[in-house]
Amino acid sequence: MSGAGGSLDTTLGFDEALERAVAAAEPARSWLVPLLAAEGPEAERLRRAADELRTRTMGDEVHLRALIELSNYCRRNCMYCGLRLDHTGVRRYRLTPGEVLALAHQAEDLGYRTVVLQSGEDLYYETEVMAGMLRSIKAETDLAITLSLGERSDVTYAAWREAGADRYLLRIETTDPALFAAMHPDGDLERRMRCLGQLKALGYQLGTGVLVGLPGQTVVSTADDVIWMHELGAEMIGVGPFITHPDTPLAGANGGTLDQALNLLATLRLVFPHAHLPATTALGALDPQGGEKGLEAGANVLMPNLTPETQREAYLLYPGKPIVDVTSATCRDRITERVRAMGRTVATDHGHVRR
Ligand code: 5AD
Ligand code: SF4
Repeated sequence: MSGAGGSLDTTLGFDEALERAVAAAEPARSWLVPLLAAEGPEAERLRRAADELRTRTMGDEVHLRALIELSNYCRRNCMYCGLRLDHTGVRRYRLTPGEVLALAHQAEDLGYRTVVLQSGEDLYYETEVMAGMLRSIKAETDLAITLSLGERSDVTYAAWREAGADRYLLRIETTDPALFAAMHPDGDLERRMRCLGQLKALGYQLGTGVLVGLPGQTVVSTADDVIWMHELGAEMIGVGPFITHPDTPLAGANGGTLDQALNLLATLRLVFPHAHLPATTALGALDPQGGEKGLEAGANVLMPNLTPETQREAYLLYPGKPIVDVTSATCRDRITERVRAMGRTVATDHGHVRR
């Protein structure tokens, strides 16, 4: 590591930027920007550095989080998303608490240690309905529970934590105020930040994340996202490329690229040596090898789909979502096989955040 030198506002060359990252310097635009913008052999070096660090800090185990998409109803109108309220072409569904409980048992039978309960922002699952579901899962299984149900009140978050939820995922999507406002006509960046602060205060293992390649988004803006997530103390971070959905207002826009997403993922591993970082489904939507590429660029988590096959195609945030037509058991087998083929192993513990 070279000496101090270099003001925070000066963008460094790639080599020096990578040195800073590997030396666990405080995240700053000066070195985040050159990493996020890396191309060709430099991008390869960035991913290799992230892969090496992941081996040292997290080992070769890959944690599988079984995803149950509870409901595709949503009260919001995020400009990029296929489930937005105004997209009337979607067949909407909700799983009943009984169906969710049965799926949790199936998850355990398939060997998963975590279920992720995800939905659009659907107030149908009132605080107590959801809390009852959580208590049943906790009483009848030994699963860790991650919630990904959007913005709710402090009281609701507290009740769900009390009922047994271990983790919460709420992506900030972007910390750029103008871009956030443009992407979320009914959103409020401050409110979302407050939700994340509240979840942290309640003791949830805290997950967030961003989209990369949104229209008008720059590497400087993404660098600021990384800095913000670091200040927040994020413990799980999911990032994916924005994928254009034809039935949204962004239909004509260019999407993000796999390279942008992998640069961000690798940079995040260097900034967050111990975080749980999934190779997200969106990577797999852009490239059949997207999952592998993510796991080789710093990721240590995969999220196989456990939603009933009859509903899976209706939960279409973006087109090209992989494995929508195989059974949950096949999905588990394939994913395990792919992990082994990479010389990695599937973790058998809960994969909680280590503090
Ligand atoms: N492309 C990629 N990711 C998307 N999401 C929603 N719409 C899209 C899209 N078109 C992501 C958001 C959300 C997560 C559940 O899915 O980041 O937080
Ligand atoms: Fe709803 Fe989430 Fe899609 Fe936004 S990203 S429209 S909150 S499902």
